[in-house]
Amino acid sequence: MKRQQWPQAARLGHIRPFHVMALLARARELEAAGRSIVHLEIGEPDFQTPAAVLEAGQRALQRGDTFYTPAAGLPELRRAISAFYRDVQGIRVPPERILITPGASGALLLALAAVAGPGDEVLLADPGYPANRHFLRLLDAVPVEIPAGPDSGYQLTSAMVESRWGPRSRAALVATPSNPTGSVLDTAALDTLAQAVALRSGVLIVDEIYQGLVYEGAARSVLAARDDVFVVNSFSKFFGMTGWRLGWLVAPEAYVDAVERIAQNVFLAASTPAQHAALAAFEPDTLRELERRRDVFRQRRDFLLPALRDLGFGVPQVPHGAFYLYADCSGLCADSFAFTRDLLEQAGVAIAPGVDFGAHRARAHVRLAYTRPVEVLREGVERVRRFLGA
Ligand SMILES: Cc1ncc(COP(=O)(O)O)c(C=O)c1O
Repeated sequence: MKRQQWPQAARLGHIRPFHVMALLARARELEAAGRSIVHLEIGEPDFQTPAAVLEAGQRALQRGDTFYTPAAGLPELRRAISAFYRDVQGIRVPPERILITPGASGALLLALAAVAGPGDEVLLADPGYPANRHFLRLLDAVPVEIPAGPDSGYQLTSAMVESRWGPRSRAALVATPSNPTGSVLDTAALDTLAQAVALRSGVLIVDEIYQGLVYEGAARSVLAARDDVFVVNSFSKFFGMTGWRLGWLVAPEAYVDAVERIAQNVFLAASTPAQHAALAAFEPDTLRELERRRDVFRQRRDFLLPALRDLGFGVPQVPHGAFYLYADCSGLCADSFAFTRDLLEQAGVAIAPGVDFGAHRARAHVRLAYTRPVEVLREGVERVRRFLGA
């Protein structure tokens, strides 16, 4: 018998593709055909995982450490993260509130699943990291995407929370530094936001995945000011461990039991060899190496930002973190989506279109990731210059 139809969950209608993935696939196709491509589309550091971490992972495999850990993670890794907060930022975060997750992605899913059910709303900035709205759709919850521009550093403000909070709102989610803009919220701004949310019996979720990559001033976790918020972090970016799939969640005490129960059922535990490897991430030599890498990222930003402005892209504020520049290209093209496609096909430069990060002035923006050495960035800039006929 011929099948008429496959069942399709209604939520699939809300799950959009990540255009940058299609762009990357096309870039690879062009490379396979012999074209040279400058990759500025990928949000992944070009640095290899630090040697000490690799070795610790290999030792774990040789010892046969391949069995499940507790759902909340290896106790020694939870303690190591707690010690990291204490030693680097002077913040007390009890290991019991730290859960090890499969990347920041796992942590975001746990936090959102703990606070938002069907029909509940979570406030997000537009532009923002696109997976968040999709996590919410998986939970049949509703992302409330609030347009945010340069005046608020593309971030949510307490005034936005006040005006958009409704009876079904449960939480607000911010990322600092942000993807795609690299903008940073300071502790005072985070504290004010958390207060505005708490006043309405909601909870603030702060994605600090890029916290290790702040270039001006000391990076401070919101945990320095409050312990009634969720904090998401990861070994992916600063620690150079994207493919190991390891992150963590700091949960308010009232939620620890709930998130642990969800973790037990949804993913049982994070990867065991990855957790053993990550123990070496906090060794002083590794941290020094990671700080050197951070300086390299800053040098790349300091090269790319003026070069883009010179080409006519608008980047109104210096982004203080992550490895992204979110650039207004409305003076250079009518539609940034078509622009990224043409730039790839005609000039061999891959960058991400604004539509991947939201709807607010998305077709007037592109995101460039400075995850390549300065020589490569220079070549990319030259190609864009020729493409624009500038
Ligand atoms: C803001 C933000 N949060 C979370 C993630 C997910 O990271 P991972 O699951 O690799 O830790 C990313 C990845 O790009 C991101 O940019």
